[in-house]
Amino acid sequence: MTNQFEQVALRAARAAGRIHLKRLSNIHIDRKSSSIDLVTEADREAEAAAIDVVHRAFPTHAILAEESGLSAHESDHRWIIDPLDGTTNFAHGFPMFCVSIAYQRRGRTQFAIVYDALKKECFVAERGRGARLNGKPLRVSTTDTLSSSLLATGFPYDRRERRRFYLTFWEAFMMRTQGVRRTGSAALDLSYVAAGRTDGFWEFGLKAWDVAAGALVVEEAGGHVTNMDGSPLDITGGNIVASNGAIHFEMLKTIAQARPVAERRHAEMEHEPAPIP
Ligand code: IPD
Ligand code: CA
Ligand code: CA
Repeated sequence: MTNQFEQVALRAARAAGRIHLKRLSNIHIDRKSSSIDLVTEADREAEAAAIDVVHRAFPTHAILAEESGLSAHESDHRWIIDPLDGTTNFAHGFPMFCVSIAYQRRGRTQFAIVYDALKKECFVAERGRGARLNGKPLRVSTTDTLSSSLLATGFPYDRRERRRFYLTFWEAFMMRTQGVRRTGSAALDLSYVAAGRTDGFWEFGLKAWDVAAGALVVEEAGGHVTNMDGSPLDITGGNIVASNGAIHFEMLKTIAQARPVAERRHAEMEHEPAPIP
C-alpha cells in the first residue's frame, strides 16, 4: 500500500519539477502580500500539476497546498504541497529551489519527497524506513559541537519589519559556528541537514508546506527536529530547529539566550525613525 503513495508522490513531484524547468527561461512574476513576497506562473502551474496527479489517484484525500489552500473535504489522508519552495531564487534564476510534498495519515507524515529538478536531486523519506537521496541512504553529519558546525537559516516575509529580531539570532550563531548560510529554500535546508551538508537549521515563521516533508527527511536520516523550545515539532507552529541531533541542545540554548535580546532590539527599533526609503 505504501508503494502506491510513494509512486503518486514521485509522479506529482516530477510533474512539478518539469514545470520548474520549462518555466525557468520564461519567468512571469507577480507580488503576493508585499513587494518581497513573490509568486510566479511556475508556482501556480506546478501546484495544479501536482494536485492533478494526487487527485486522480486519490480523489477522496484532502490536500493542503500553498497557492490554493486546503481542499474542502476532510479525510484521514492529507497531502501537503509546496509546489515551488524558493520562489525568490527561481524568479532570479538562482539555482536553489524545489517542490516539497508530504503525505500524512491521521496528521502524521508517512512519506516525504523534496525534489530539486535542476540539480536532479530527489530526497525521499518513509516513516520508519529511512531517507534516501537518489536512492542512496542518507545520514546526518557527525559534527558534535556548535563551534565546528555549519548552519543554515532563512527569514520570513515580515523580515523588514522584524529585521533586528531575526538578525539577533543570525549574529548569535555567526559568533558560535563556522558559518551560517541563507539558501532561500527551507525544504532544501532541511534536506541538506539530512544529507550532512549542513549540521543544523533554524527558522521563524515557516508554514506547514515549507517543513512537512523536510522534517521527516531529517528524522529518517537520524537527525532531530523540534519547535524552538525543544518540544515535539508542530508543523503549523512556524518556528523550527533541525539538526544532526548532536548539536541540538546547543542550538536550542543559543536561541533561548538570544531571544530576550532579540525582543528588546525589536521593541527599541519600533521607536526609531523610519529607515531610508
Ligand atoms: C520560502 C523559502 C525560504 C524561507 C521563507 C519561505 P517560498 O518559501 O522556504 O527559504 O526563508 O520563509 O516562505 O515562498 O519560496 O515557497
Ligand atoms: Ca515555501
Ligand atoms: Ca512556495
